[in-house]
Amino acid sequence: MKIGIIGAGKIGVTVAQLFIKAGHQVAISNSRGPESLKNIVKKLGDNAVALDVNDAAAFGDMVLLAVPWIKPEALPDPKNLKDKIVIDAMNPYQTNGEVVDLGESTSSEETAKRLPGAQIVKAFNTIHFTHLANGPHKELPLQERRAIFYAGDDEAAKAKVSRLIEEIGFGGINTGTLHNGGKLQQPNAELYNKEITCGEALEILKR
Ligand SMILES: NC(=O)c1ccc[n+]([C@@H]2O[C@H](COP(=O)([O-])OP(=O)(O)OC[C@H]3O[C@@H](n4cnc5c(N)ncnc54)[C@H](OP(=O)(O)O)[C@@H]3O)[C@@H](O)[C@H]2O)c1
Repeated sequence: MKIGIIGAGKIGVTVAQLFIKAGHQVAISNSRGPESLKNIVKKLGDNAVALDVNDAAAFGDMVLLAVPWIKPEALPDPKNLKDKIVIDAMNPYQTNGEVVDLGESTSSEETAKRLPGAQIVKAFNTIHFTHLANGPHKELPLQERRAIFYAGDDEAAKAKVSRLIEEIGFGGINTGTLHNGGKLQQPNAELYNKEITCGEALEILKR
C-alpha cells in the first residue's frame, strides 16, 4: 500500500520506519519541504520519498497525520484526502503543553470537521514514539502484543487500520466511535500512554 505521512518528527518518522518494514511505500512531508528531508529519506531507504504536504496526501491510499493538532495550517488541502482513510495520531496540546479543553468534543472530531470527505480513524495517538519503536512483536499472539487503540465511525476503515497495526507487530484495539472511543483515547484518559498488552487493554475496557 502507499501511505502518505504528514509530519516528519518523532511520530512521523517512527511510523514511516514501521510501515516500510512491513512492506509499504511511504511519502513523508514536513513544514519545511522535501529538500529538508533528504537525510531522513536516505535513512528510510528505497521505499520512501519526500514530498510536500499536499503531494504526500495525494500519494497515499491511506494517510497518517502527525503534526501538532493546534496548527491546522499544517494539514493538507481536504481535496487531497477525499474518501481516503486518514489516521489521526494528533493530540490536542497547546504550544505550552497544556491540553486544549474541547468540552464535549474530541480532537479527532475536530480534525474530521477540518477535513470534510476524509474517513478519520483516530489511532497511534496514545502510544509514545519510543514505545512504538521498541514495541513490535510480530512473533507473539495478538493478546500478548502491545496494544494500539483506534476509534472511528466507519467499521471498514477501522478494520484496515487494525490490519496495518497487526502488520507492524502490534495488536489493534477498537475503542468505539470517533466520539466515544475518542474520549477513551484522549490525553490523561486511563488508556493514554500506557504500555499494555491487548489482553490487558480488553480487561480495562470491560470495566
Ligand atoms: N511524540 C510522541 O511520542 C507522540 C505520540 C503520539 C502522538 N503524538 C502526536 O503526534 C503529533 C506529532 O508529534 P511529534 O512528537 O512527532 O512532533 P514533532 O517531533 O515536533 O514533529 C512535528 C512535525 O510536524 C511538522 N509541522 C508542520 N507544521 C507545523 C507547525 N506549524 N508547527 C510545528 N510543526 C509543524 C514539523 O515539520 P518541521 O520539521 O518542518 O518543523 C514536524 O515534521 C502531535 O500531534 C502529537 O500530539 C506524538
